[in-house]
Amino acid sequence: METKIILSEQDMPTQWYNIAADMPGELFPPLGPAGSPLEPAQLESVFPHGIIEQEVSRERWIPIPEEVRSVLFRWRPTPLRRAHALERHLGYGGMIFYKDESVSPAGSHKPNSAVPQAYYNMLEGVKRLTTETGAGQWGSALSFACAQFGLGCRVFMVGVSYDQKPARKTMMELWGGTCVRSPSQETAAGRRAIRDFPGTPGSLGIAISEAVEAAVTSRDVKTRYALGSVLNHVLLHQTIIGLEAKKQCDLAGVTPDVVIGCVGGGSNFAGLAFPFAADKIAGVPMEIIPVEPKACPTMTRGTYTYDYGDTAGLTPLLAMHTLGHRFIPPPIHAGGLRYHGVSPLISHGIDTGLFTPRAHDQVSAYEAAMLWARSEGTLPAPETSHAIAAVVDRVRQAQKEGKCPTILFNYSGHGLMDLAGYEKYLRGDLTPYAPSDHDLSRYMAGMENLPPLARNLP
Ligand SMILES: Cc1ncc(COP(=O)(O)O)c(C=O)c1O
Repeated sequence: METKIILSEQDMPTQWYNIAADMPGELFPPLGPAGSPLEPAQLESVFPHGIIEQEVSRERWIPIPEEVRSVLFRWRPTPLRRAHALERHLGYGGMIFYKDESVSPAGSHKPNSAVPQAYYNMLEGVKRLTTETGAGQWGSALSFACAQFGLGCRVFMVGVSYDQKPARKTMMELWGGTCVRSPSQETAAGRRAIRDFPGTPGSLGIAISEAVEAAVTSRDVKTRYALGSVLNHVLLHQTIIGLEAKKQCDLAGVTPDVVIGCVGGGSNFAGLAFPFAADKIAGVPMEIIPVEPKACPTMTRGTYTYDYGDTAGLTPLLAMHTLGHRFIPPPIHAGGLRYHGVSPLISHGIDTGLFTPRAHDQVSAYEAAMLWARSEGTLPAPETSHAIAAVVDRVRQAQKEGKCPTILFNYSGHGLMDLAGYEKYLRGDLTPYAPSDHDLSRYMAGMENLPPLARNLP
């Protein structure tokens, strides 16, 4: 069988897939500040209408505007590749496929949502977007997308990543964006974080608070906020990955038994997995594995409850697996996976047994990345390496069981900007880390005051 399965531009999907139309059971609604279900209008100071409509939509298929498709064509459809070399390296009798999202301008899946978000904002006269970024992938993707539609872009980058990955800031600036180390003195949320946690490495939760505050308090030009993961509309935009992959699997005559993706907020995992999950909901047997770092074990050790998406509590309350919005994850190199919560749609999927999460530590992720580099030849992003660690683990399990499931995973990004982490790994400077139960319970203190999960709220 060939090593890469390529689609033509005509085969690129014309609609996104909205899993909210098919999810088993009822979804918990997001809550506003008074604890009652959020009205879409309450989001208007933050997002444009086009995005709010998608956020709350229950339509199964949502058209992708031609203007968005014409930008996505520059790198989409992305290749589906068969990891023949890794299969040989592991002595695996089954097939391993990966959807290669590293070929985008920013080097990851993130532009799949950055482009439509910039587009819908441009349509409504927005002149500048603010955002957060963990590893720098989303901030650079949004800077690229804003450049396509003539918008300014201001990015609050988690402090530890800002220090570890200065080249990402340069990329953002090349595309016309600006990048601020978070927490910063620019916002009340940033100043509070610096006061309360002196020397903090920052977190996505703090950076989100800063970016939301910067958007809603901006007075010079019409400014809105863009989020790179977690919310329904972001996951929706990413489903173009799985829709293409399904066509490619059909062309190759294969059906995956196991689908794997790493999870920060959940967008690349969902992008690949949701179109396949639709088949699982319809009765096709399939194992779908979201993977997280042991250092930030949201899905495997977190609590399923209402929590804020950011540290300062500026966002609506979301029903999600969470470590508590005040959780400050340790400064592991997979910056994009250091988030205290996970998308409500994925949380619901875990709760209903659709997805079975696993966790890997950063050392096993780097080991898997090295195995990958020496077999397949490319350098994965540290986030992607967690998915590769899960693939290797799943292969070993299959070998023990004497089975050969077909495995498909999302190669969410390349690691060419992440060489500092690789260098530390090669020097033996990285250690596996998992927080103790005591550490985790400390961050959940005070959470009992938030509303419990309940579907019929006032
Ligand atoms: C390459 C890569 N993969 C995965 C992630 C995790 O984010 P998400 O869970 O939204 O896909 C990130 C986030 O920055 C990333 O840069």
